[in-house]
Amino acid sequence: MSNLIDTYKNYEIDLEKVTCLFKKDNYEIFWLGIDNETAFRCNVYLIKSGNEAIIVDPGSRAFFEVVKKRALQVVKLEEIKAIIVCHQDPDVCASMIDWLEILPNLKVITTERTNVLLPHYGKDDYEFFNINTCKKYIFKSGEELEFIEAPFLHFSGAFATYDKTSNFLFSGDIWAALDVDWELVVSDFDKHISNMNLFHIDYMASNLATRGFVNKIKDKKIEAILPQHGSIINSDYVQEALTYLKELKCGLDIIYGDISGCK
Ligand SMILES: [Fe+2]
Ligand SMILES: [Fe+2]
Repeated sequence: MSNLIDTYKNYEIDLEKVTCLFKKDNYEIFWLGIDNETAFRCNVYLIKSGNEAIIVDPGSRAFFEVVKKRALQVVKLEEIKAIIVCHQDPDVCASMIDWLEILPNLKVITTERTNVLLPHYGKDDYEFFNINTCKKYIFKSGEELEFIEAPFLHFSGAFATYDKTSNFLFSGDIWAALDVDWELVVSDFDKHISNMNLFHIDYMASNLATRGFVNKIKDKKIEAILPQHGSIINSDYVQEALTYLKELKCGLDIIYGDISGCK
């Protein structure tokens, strides 16, 4: 058993339970939810290596109790050692203050630009793991997470996390999609493009940024893309997803496109 994402394609998952996306020996990845019925539904993930766990983009305060309850289905509280915060938006990480309340030693893994804003949620006495200077996190068992800066997608200090064991890419808002007929795994990529457009055209800075990011990751083996909103993109559509981002016209391309030739 390893990559389980394909098994959830066209499959109705039990939303009351945590969903295992990857399992190899003591290394597991879970989708913790959340399952609120809004277009801006947020995905929270948990990576577990033995008795060491990291929550990826823990989410808003409104869903803290739900996410905690779900996390505790698969880990003990004290096993949660860190949270990854791909940027500072409240839907990504406002719950960090609740997590720090119960786990004061929690590491906050993020960029410098994000870290200067996080204290505005109300806590600044946490351990900051700076991905600008340390590009990887190594679990005690040796598995590695690699951090890839993604400037202006959409925040200037945004980044993605590449898990070298599963080859999953936790992409934050990149490849995020808005939809009202959500499914865990994309089953129709053409339809999914419209859902991604709803997010990307307004939020992402420009084609220069999206193309630049694709260029950064072009040599990586990517088994699945796990965004913070919308469905997971499995291996069937990873190539199409890279092409989508490479060719995307968004943000400044559209807003200032008609004055690009002006002097
Ligand atoms: Fe965001
Ligand atoms: Fe978001």
